[in-house]
Amino acid sequence: MRPDFALLDRLRARFLDAPAEGGDYWESTELLAAYDGSGVAGRRVLAAFGPDRFARLVVHDRSPLARRFAAERAASAFPGTAVEQAPDWGEVAPPQPFTLVISHVLNELPPAESAALLALVRRAAAVLWVEPGTGEVARALVALREELRAEFAVVAPCTHNHACGLLTPENQRHWCHHFAKPPVAAFTDAFWSEFSLRLGIDLRSLPYSFLVLDRPAAGTAAPAPADWSRILGEPREYKGHFKVLSCEAAGVTERMLQKRDDKALFKAFRRGVPPPPLFAWQLCDEKIVAGRHLLGPLNATETAADAGSGHPE
Ligand SMILES: C[S@@+](CC[C@H](N)C(=O)[O-])C[C@H]1O[C@@H](n2cnc3c(N)ncnc32)[C@H](O)[C@@H]1O
Repeated sequence: MRPDFALLDRLRARFLDAPAEGGDYWESTELLAAYDGSGVAGRRVLAAFGPDRFARLVVHDRSPLARRFAAERAASAFPGTAVEQAPDWGEVAPPQPFTLVISHVLNELPPAESAALLALVRRAAAVLWVEPGTGEVARALVALREELRAEFAVVAPCTHNHACGLLTPENQRHWCHHFAKPPVAAFTDAFWSEFSLRLGIDLRSLPYSFLVLDRPAAGTAAPAPADWSRILGEPREYKGHFKVLSCEAAGVTERMLQKRDDKALFKAFRRGVPPPPLFAWQLCDEKIVAGRHLLGPLNATETAADAGSGHPE
């Protein structure tokens, strides 16, 4: 069904101009259906891990309409899963261990609500948290990570549990953000082309920030092997070389890769780094001279990444 673009346009202006204005903006189920987002993160998690791995799904949003919409979508997508609605943060948590999924809400929360959310995070067994890739929100997420890293193992995006390397004076201008790969349909489907034109949204660029936390098993430290580095943002190409902002256990460092040092890696950067952007670098004079991708040879990982579905859900 074609969404009402005028409705979406008004909503987008509201998100961009006054995110912290307060007040429930979900005026109707039509608007929620046109946005088609509320609760999508929970549904994606159920689809990715398998609904049978979860005893039930509890959805929360301050808007009763959004809660109902999210619950109905989830119940129809996963008819065998019990779905409940929680009218406030405190009622989300069941007595047994739970995975908390948080999506795109941080910049709308006044301080008291952020504190209530943080209290909920502290009761979770694991946390999957995704937010926009703006500097403001990504820095807020890093600040929360710093508060939580003594209690949780930080699984991602960090490859370590130490203080965030972006907090040093020389890294103040950077922020921890990443780019999702748009589905092929975003470029081939007439609907998405109209969507992009009508709403002025560049579908080629999907920046986001995220945080994954887990309760550490006794005696364990960081879950990632010590020599893995994550590329923040995207590699930037210059004449004959790339520069990458590399997040490593020792800190966040700008590193250079010259074409002549590793042609295959250079080409891979040009095509777009295959997810996840985790590499074991081989360094010489602090420069990258070779890189091993987490999932193995770069050609193979590229094929796997391209095989994604054409639709976001
Ligand atoms: C940008 S939308 C994202 C919706 C959905 N979480 C998603 O990822 O598609 C932000 C959502 O945060 C909700 N919200 C805003 N302030 C809130 C608060 N204080 N407590 C709970 N939800 C809130 C809004 O009603 C809205 O549905």
